[in-house]
Amino acid sequence: MEIDDKIKELERRNKEAEMGGGPKRIEAQHAKGKMTARERVAHLFDEGSFEEIDRFVVHRCHDFGMEKQKTAGDGVVTGYGRINGRTTFVFAQDFTVFGGSLSGAVGEKICKVMDLALKSGCPIVGLNDSGGARIQEGVMSLAGYGEIFKRNVWSSGVIPQISVIMGPSAGGAVYSPALTDLIVMVKKTSHMFITGPDVIKSVTAEEVTAEALGGAMAHNTKSGVAHFAENSDQEALDRVRQILSYLPRNYREKPPEIPCFDDPYRSDASLNEVVPSNPKKPYDMKKIILSVLDGGEFLEVHKHFAQNMIVGFGRLNGLSVGIIANQPRFLAGCLDINASVKCARFVRLCDAFNIPLITFVDVPGYLPGVNQEYGGIIKHGAKILYAYSEATVPKITVITRKAYGGAYIAMSGKHLAADINYAYPSAEIAVMGPDGAANIIFRKEIAESQDPEATRLKLVDDYRNNFASPFKAAEVGFIDHIIFPEFTRASLVKALMMLKDKKTDIPERRHGNIPL
Ligand code: HXC
Repeated sequence: MEIDDKIKELERRNKEAEMGGGPKRIEAQHAKGKMTARERVAHLFDEGSFEEIDRFVVHRCHDFGMEKQKTAGDGVVTGYGRINGRTTFVFAQDFTVFGGSLSGAVGEKICKVMDLALKSGCPIVGLNDSGGARIQEGVMSLAGYGEIFKRNVWSSGVIPQISVIMGPSAGGAVYSPALTDLIVMVKKTSHMFITGPDVIKSVTAEEVTAEALGGAMAHNTKSGVAHFAENSDQEALDRVRQILSYLPRNYREKPPEIPCFDDPYRSDASLNEVVPSNPKKPYDMKKIILSVLDGGEFLEVHKHFAQNMIVGFGRLNGLSVGIIANQPRFLAGCLDINASVKCARFVRLCDAFNIPLITFVDVPGYLPGVNQEYGGIIKHGAKILYAYSEATVPKITVITRKAYGGAYIAMSGKHLAADINYAYPSAEIAVMGPDGAANIIFRKEIAESQDPEATRLKLVDDYRNNFASPFKAAEVGFIDHIIFPEFTRASLVKALMMLKDKKTDIPERRHGNIPL
């Protein structure tokens, strides 16, 4: 072949790869409100920075007349580029080619970028839009999934792995996203389930729509499988860029430090009014979080799930921090099963990637109840204890109001190796809440008094003032300092800068055995 012919052949193949499954299928993709794999990749990366690999790979299936249906690149676009100036890898399943299904070749392409990402210590983003295993390829496809799962696990805690669900993700295919750090779903167009509505109907006779079963809000509110629900492909991809801005490239590095234009020692007198004087009155913990973070910017993770617990990313003096907080507006901020899992998983994500933990505490305790006990609150609640004890990143805690019983310890208490523990003057730290405590220890006194209710109220009050205060804990050094709310940001920044280069180890072992 002459050189001119070779160039023409290259041009022909490039065009073929760019057209994926052809104009009709691209049109159908757009008609569903979805971008194509290539459009998504272009949107995700800094302009013009994407470098594709394996553009000419084709499937190797000989059955079902597949020889005649080969498309350059097969069902996935892979490569690397820059996001916020930093190298990041991607695989984007192409629904226009056999519904983005996973052939042996597609599996190999995905594994190749996963290997490159791991070797070069850079994050990887998976854009999922696929009908699952390529039916025509049978076991070759299943092998591909297995190889991907193994790499997800080997990469876990080494490089950030973000999954975006932008179409169907069904069957075993849901498990690669499930093994990654964070899942972003697109509302209306994305669905995740291990078996779809038809199979469910035939097996259990339950009738459910795909949206109710595995749509973005189902997984963001009910199952907790997904962490973000976005309105469109574009917004989901923008979200990925934002998430990555808080994370380092890998576990050996610290997250990017950005210039801070917000006064690190800024005070906010309005914070003195946030915690109500009535201990039973709820308030919004987010007011405190938004006030202390640089520029009031908070990227909430798992916003719609277990709302009695708040987790997310922010910055203090330009440094990435992970925020964990009880939310008294929901379930009085109690720790239930879902909140425990949400908290523990986020603590471990931050600890894996050198992100300091800032914990705000207002927790009356673990949630009592038969459902909670049968559901395993003991093992799920233990996850919080495990995650905080294991975390070696800087850990700073602020008790705003209640910190009772096991929950006082669990929420980054001094005894789980927190570095600096602050309390507001309004803090109530004790074995249990004043009502429960007074009813037990003053039971006789209350019963024998002339006006039991008045006596009870007085004793509850005495208990709150004398025992449920921050001073007992501060007298023994479990609280390092009692601070005025208005100076929370300054106190956090000072502690964080002091702890910036903290080094500490936990005992050597093969790996721990977190209660699962
Ligand atoms: C081969 C597939 C395919 C698949 C879809 N296509 N899924 N080809 N293998 N798994 C093809 C279709 O034939 C069609 O080709 C094109 O992709 C688009 O599919 P449509 O059905 O027209 O699209 P839509 O109506 O949007 O429905 C999408 C869908 C549906 C919901 C994903 O296609 C579907 O249910 N597919 C099968 C899903 C499935 O059961 N997968 C196997 C799961 S088991 P043309 O040529 O018409 O464009 C599994 C095991 C993994 O994944 C185990 C890991 C441990």
